[in-house]
Parts: sequence; structure tokens; C-alpha cells
Amino acid sequence: MSILRCDVQDALEPYMSRRTVELHWGKHHQDYVDGLNKQLATSPLYGHTLEELIKEAYNNGNPLPEYNNAAQVWNHHFFWESMQPEGGGSPEGGVLQQIEKDFGSFTNFREEFIRSASQLLGSGWVWLVLKRTEKKLAVLHTRNAISPLAFGDIVCLLDPFLKMFNIFSINFAMTSHVLFLQPIISLDLWEHAYYLDYKDDRRSYVTNFIDHLVSWHTVTLRMMRAESFVNLGEPTIPVA
Ligand SMILES: [Fe+2]
Repeated sequence: MSILRCDVQDALEPYMSRRTVELHWGKHHQDYVDGLNKQLATSPLYGHTLEELIKEAYNNGNPLPEYNNAAQVWNHHFFWESMQPEGGGSPEGGVLQQIEKDFGSFTNFREEFIRSASQLLGSGWVWLVLKRTEKKLAVLHTRNAISPLAFGDIVCLLDPFLKMFNIFSINFAMTSHVLFLQPIISLDLWEHAYYLDYKDDRRSYVTNFIDHLVSWHTVTLRMMRAESFVNLGEPTIPVA
């Protein structure tokens, strides 16, 4: 179900221990997969892709029983692939340029990512997303199993809902628009992700993720994919 194999469960040490990976990937992630498969055996939603299933089961903010497991399976898979051994540091090339354009500097982005994670009370996720309509990167956090994918095709009337439940850390000034959010990085902020290694020190967990684990290689590939449907650059006028 994931790219991690049993012989590489210590690949992220010392920043994420083998014990944490065994528990997190081997039990929690597996439980979401098993739970979803059990639900789909008798569900009319069987046959969708996982991405379609998340949007269908989110049901415009009235989640169906399948939503939690479906979103958590996708969120976790995306999370594992957001990391690599000897990751972290600063990105290069186009990714760095885009971050500097949208956050002012890589340092600003790093601080905003850590701050957003710290501001989430309880379980959830912190994300780097591409706001497709604005063509900008943004950091946000979501509660529990909420995935930015769920909002890809939802229009209007959602902003009061989002504010009411404080799902996002970002402030939506508009009251009616389509939320096309393309995930680029996800970081699990449920206690099972860090408690064995960091106890209640979530800030150190998040800081080590950015400084030592995040895979800028994966981010580069995800940004290249995003650019296939979002023109992030200035219009180029050919010189005659
Ligand atoms: Fe998790």
C-alpha cells in the first residue's frame, strides 16, 4: 500500500524512528486501508478512484461513512512520499523560485509551515498546497482527516462552513469561489505520528520534518505535474 518496504523502516532515522514507522505505517495506515476495504465491500461508492471517492464521500461537508478511511489512506500515502532519507534543507531551481515568489523567502515559508502546525489544536494535517485559481503556493492546516482534495470541486457557501469549524488556517476573504487546492506536501499531525519520538513536542517533530525529512525531489515532481494544468510563470512573448 506504500512505497515503504519492511527492510527500510529505519530509513528516516534518527528523525523518525523505526518504532514510529512500524506503528504508524504498519498499524495505523494499515487500519485505514483495511477499514476502507471492509466498507467498500458493501458500498455503492465501490469502483471510484481513491481521489473520486474522497470527493464523493465528503458529500459537500456532510461526510459519508467512507470519508474518514478514504481520506486517511490518501493522506498517509501522500505523507510517506513527501519524505526521503537525508531530505530537508532548501529546495533548488524552480521550486525555490516559486516559494520565494509566494512567501518572500524560503525562511518565511519554513516559519509559516512550522507556525501553522503549531496553531492546530488536536489531530490533523499541515499542507503546502497550490491554489490553482490564484496560481500561488500556500500553507494551511486541516483538522482530523480533512483533505484539500475534498474541496476540489466544491463551490460557494463553503466559506462559512470552513470558518465555523476552523478547518483551515488561511483566511478566506471571498465568500464565493471554487477551492482548487492541489496538495504538494503533507505532514501528519496526529499524535501517533510523533509521540514515540517527540512526546508532546510537536514543534521539534515539524522542524525536523522540514530540516531533515521533506523530499524536495518529490515536491519538484509534484510541481511539474501541477504545472501541466496551471501556468505558474509570466506570459512569455516570443522575440521575432
Ligand atoms: Fe497518521
